[in-house]
Amino acid sequence: MKKIKTIARPNIALIKYWGKRDEKLNLPAVGSISITLDGISTKTEIWLTQDVDKFYLNEKIDIDEHSKIVPFLDYVRDFINDKVYFEIHSVNNFPTAAGLASSASGYASIAKGINQLLNLNLSDKELSKLARRGSGSAARSIFGGIVEMHKGNEPDGSDCYAEQLYSTEYFPLDVVVVITNTEVKKTSSRNGMLISKNTSPYYSNWVNNSEYDINAMKMALREKDFNKIADLSIRSCLKMHSVMMTSNPPLLYWNSTTFEIIKQIEDLFYEQNQPVFFTIDAGPQVKILTTPDYKKHLLKIIKKLDNIQDYYVLELGNGAEIIED
Ligand code: PMV
Repeated sequence: MKKIKTIARPNIALIKYWGKRDEKLNLPAVGSISITLDGISTKTEIWLTQDVDKFYLNEKIDIDEHSKIVPFLDYVRDFINDKVYFEIHSVNNFPTAAGLASSASGYASIAKGINQLLNLNLSDKELSKLARRGSGSAARSIFGGIVEMHKGNEPDGSDCYAEQLYSTEYFPLDVVVVITNTEVKKTSSRNGMLISKNTSPYYSNWVNNSEYDINAMKMALREKDFNKIADLSIRSCLKMHSVMMTSNPPLLYWNSTTFEIIKQIEDLFYEQNQPVFFTIDAGPQVKILTTPDYKKHLLKIIKKLDNIQDYYVLELGNGAEIIED
């Protein structure tokens, strides 16, 4: 029996994505720019099976996760016009569904595996569209380094895909992911995005300003301007969280430790001119980005933080890959 093994890594967005222009096709309302990480990953093993899909996450069948993946696999069956079923085993070496982009690495690794298993010969661009069907941010994890997700304008999503802007070597960034709480979040990104779209008075401004942020970040990256990259990233993150917080019901993904860390990093960057900034997704973990030169100093600060559960020191990583046995 043909078995495929793949690996994919989470990514974190510097310019954030929040909100969909089409829920059914999973098309984002805004573009985004991300970095793919190295050091944390999802490994997936996948093969064909009979009559029914089986999905094991971290060696367990989880009803919730199973109900999320079946529509994605139904889409694959429609796409290839064949009734094939899959057994999939995905293992994360980091906390699942806690704002660490486990769905990004998960669906990127599954899309990569399906492409190989069924000999679909999809290009990376097409693969990113396939991964997007599972999770919007998964499209970005198909690629390594620094990645742009195009929101596209076509109703069918044909121009909505990710592509690599720069490889891992282009700009040396180190990332420290600080874990403040590993509980599974109460409101998934999927539900949260819909709530924000329907209720936040800031949502339309968020969508309308996003192109400006994307272009500004692309220029900052072109110029390798750390301070601009940092400032744009912090403000994109806080704009996204303003939309979340002003939704009804409010989406508060932070805890008090999240806030304490933000305050310290904000002070280091804006007041003390140190090369360090933060970003946060739909969870309470804080991702702190810095230069290789400042990393040692940053780690000293992190070791002194109260109430943190753990931290991971990561670099920029590659896109989704097939692993040989
Ligand atoms: O992959 P999704 O659809 O669950 O989206 C997650 C979006 C954020 O992580 C909150 C922001 C981003 O751009 O990664």
